[in-house]
Amino acid sequence: MEFIFATHNLHKSEEVSAILGPDYHIKNLREIGCPEIPETADTLQGNALQKAQYVFDHYHVNCFADDTGLEVEALDGRPGVYSARYAGEGCSYQDNVLKMLEEMRGVTNRKACFRTVIALIMDGKRYFFEGRVEGKILTEQHGVDGFGYDPIFKPLGFRQTFAEMSSSAKNAISHRGRAMQQLKEFLDEINSSR
Ligand code: IMP
Repeated sequence: MEFIFATHNLHKSEEVSAILGPDYHIKNLREIGCPEIPETADTLQGNALQKAQYVFDHYHVNCFADDTGLEVEALDGRPGVYSARYAGEGCSYQDNVLKMLEEMRGVTNRKACFRTVIALIMDGKRYFFEGRVEGKILTEQHGVDGFGYDPIFKPLGFRQTFAEMSSSAKNAISHRGRAMQQLKEFLDEINSSR
């Protein structure tokens, strides 16, 4: 089965190809020369669907897209859908991490969760999958691997932050890994009945 994954991020498309395995051929937006797709919705589901719908409308193929947010309990779920630009338009991962450490300074409730929503458009129909991982925001950075908020996010039940884990250990429990796993189970089911 062939799909377009609506991302320019090579790291993500390699990750999803590894999770889906050899039965699925995944092309990313770079490979098809698609420009950056706007993400203007105010929910993860809305943004994921916006990207998948754009690809479907322009290329008329089966496709899927994801969107992720970090939801911090003490911040009433912020930055959520705005996680990429929490510290402002065009900010770096490090800007976001520093802003989070600052905003959470002295806050005792450090519970947070990462949530990923995947929108799949297959044979013209829409499907959604969600993965989440609970954890907490640390008071300082630990580890150098990964990206985004990884150095300050410690998943519940683990001693390391995401930035201290190998990518395979992170993928096994992460929000995106779990959402992708659900997508795989759904596609495997269809694949086996064809
Ligand atoms: P996206 O929807 O995957 O582009 O994610 C939006 C933002 O959430 C990213 O720019 C990162 O700041 C953050 N983010 C997403 N996934 C992760 C992750 O696995 N670890 C740390 N931060 C993440």
